[in-house]
Amino acid sequence: MDKFRITGGRSLKGSVSISGAKNSALPCMAAALLTPETVTLHNIPYVRDIITQRRLLEDLGATVLTPELRTHKINARNIELFEAPYELVKTMRASVLALGPLLARFGKAKVSLPGGCAIGTRPIDLHLAAFEKLGAEVRLEAGNVVARSPASGRLVGAEIHFDKVTVTGTENLMMAAALARGRTILHGAACEPEITDLAELLNKMGARISGAGTATIEIEGVEALGGGEHTIIPDRIETGTFMAAAAITRGELEIMDCQPKHLTCVIEQLSDVGVEIDEINSSKLHVRATKSLTAKDVTTEPYPRFPTDMQAQYMALMTQARGRSIIVETIFENRFMHGSELQRMGARIQIDGHKAILEGPTPLTGAPLLASDLRASASLVLAGLVAEGETVVDRVYHIDRGYEKIEAKLRAVGADIERIRESVTAPLSRTSVKDVAEVV
Ligand code: UD1
Repeated sequence: MDKFRITGGRSLKGSVSISGAKNSALPCMAAALLTPETVTLHNIPYVRDIITQRRLLEDLGATVLTPELRTHKINARNIELFEAPYELVKTMRASVLALGPLLARFGKAKVSLPGGCAIGTRPIDLHLAAFEKLGAEVRLEAGNVVARSPASGRLVGAEIHFDKVTVTGTENLMMAAALARGRTILHGAACEPEITDLAELLNKMGARISGAGTATIEIEGVEALGGGEHTIIPDRIETGTFMAAAAITRGELEIMDCQPKHLTCVIEQLSDVGVEIDEINSSKLHVRATKSLTAKDVTTEPYPRFPTDMQAQYMALMTQARGRSIIVETIFENRFMHGSELQRMGARIQIDGHKAILEGPTPLTGAPLLASDLRASASLVLAGLVAEGETVVDRVYHIDRGYEKIEAKLRAVGADIERIRESVTAPLSRTSVKDVAEVV
């Protein structure tokens, strides 16, 4: 199991290029299941979740060619299996995105029901209730969701009201409804840029989707979809993580190949804290922290508000800000596991249910740390960059799921970070954090 060894105290300086968004690439890859023709996707990030998604598509019978590192050509003409097994779903929750496309195109799908994960219970009840609204018959069988289209054949368009904003739920339903008979209206849809990106790809494939990016999405079902070619949007969470890295190390970074317009709320929040952020153009940010940071409260909320996927990184930053900050997590019920690791480094954090109260600034000292989930790992790396002495972050397979070569990108801008193998380090004695398959 790989670890990162970080020696803190260096200011980051230089430029860093942002990879494609994992959370957009995953649904776009699943969308290739909707057509017998080839779907070509560019700017796919080179991260573990993409490899898992590719394996799922190949297990189902699709062929996936990568003529270039970040380009995938997916052809799902010959699908032989209609099932995402537990082995895949437990390592990557986004495997449930196979459900909508398989059900819509083949009328049947079986996907292992994802269990709880490191950050909460995370049910998919809203996806399933919405499939039923489209006429599907959905039942649970030995830990699997088994879904079938109605006896009459295709799914049938319907009005769906989501009680809660769900990102993959909206994506699953957009894909299913694209091939349904008649019109579907999704009320209370997620507005994340990844939804808009998927809708754009689906429309290129011949779907008729309007309103993506707003809370009401209309989908006029079509009989068949064709191939398409699409470039995945930049990863806004990786962008935000590097903004936080510049800020926490009092550094100066030029962040290239990003889309600042997807980070309006994060930019606002960090600017309020005292980080100097300039939008150089539509794909470049200049981030600098020269003065001391001021603590500010934040509450995570669905897009366009502050993303839960930036909460852990923001917490690391707030350990270095002057004053008290209250971080409220409203999306997931158990997303503060990084808090106790940060406390071990010297941070003053009090966790109270879905609220974390920080007092800063506190000098952090390097320590052996356990990463519990993807974004938590990123926050521990950030803390390690500013801590005195050596930090070893264990279980970095979590971070490898969603960040492309983060240690190489950080090293290139001056961080002292290296990847080490289990065999060359003394075993860490702590095993208190449960090694749960993390599935953000
Ligand atoms: C996606 C992102 C993840 C991000 C999250 C919230 C991907 C692959 N993952 O996850 O990085 O942290 O959005 O922005 O895009 N819920 C239900 N029932 C459901 C579905 C969701 O109760 O059927 C609840 C969840 O438990 C959670 C909230 O709704 O409390 C939001 O979840 P959702 O938006 O679905 O998260 P994901 O799509 O899984």
